[in-house]
Amino acid sequence: MRKSKVYIALLHYPMYNKRMDIITTSITNLDLHDIARAARTYDVDGFLVVHPSENQHALLKEIVSYWQEGYGGQYNPDRKEAFSILKTFYKLEEALEYIKNETGQEVLTVATDARIYPNTVSYRDLKKEIMEENKVFLILFGTGWGIQREIMESCNYILEPIEAERTYNHLSVRSAVAIILDRLLGEAWY
Ligand SMILES: C[S@@+](CC[C@H](N)C(=O)[O-])C[C@H]1O[C@@H](n2cnc3c(N)ncnc32)[C@H](O)[C@@H]1O
Repeated sequence: MRKSKVYIALLHYPMYNKRMDIITTSITNLDLHDIARAARTYDVDGFLVVHPSENQHALLKEIVSYWQEGYGGQYNPDRKEAFSILKTFYKLEEALEYIKNETGQEVLTVATDARIYPNTVSYRDLKKEIMEENKVFLILFGTGWGIQREIMESCNYILEPIEAERTYNHLSVRSAVAIILDRLLGEAWY
């Protein structure tokens, strides 16, 4: 049983596009479903969806209420369960404030990306901290072509990329979340 609390956030701004311009990406329904299910499966303490725009929050509200209160939740209670840990925010700061209020502890941010950054933390070392220390972590996942460098470097930790040495490395965020949750919170199958 792990000692630390672990939250995950899905960010949509500031992200890169393939020309490395800063953009705001759109909410993807599949991301919400797949990441909520993976997060619930690994007992993540909260799945925080962060998006700056009003109209995307209207869409988020529609999707989430359909599965939390609406016909979706009646038809598929497991999906309702997965969506029960999903919360929505406009800014990363608001998400951090929410966790701080909920846990009464400082939040350690962990950034993820397919690119290689200096001073990354290994899965083994971060897993050890999560299992053995009473801390609170928020793991940041991006969209588009990844999280803006300044946000990455403002985090307490940057996690090693999955399979950094491979020539082809374009995992979807849904796949990256599942792999990273299994490596950090999964059973010691190896
Ligand atoms: C669609 S991917 C972005 C793909 C983008 N080409 C990139 O280089 O990250 C969105 C997010 O998935 C996660 N991700 C994708 N590939 C990853 C990898 N190899 N290692 C760690 N995280 C990864 C990161 O959170 C990334 O911001």
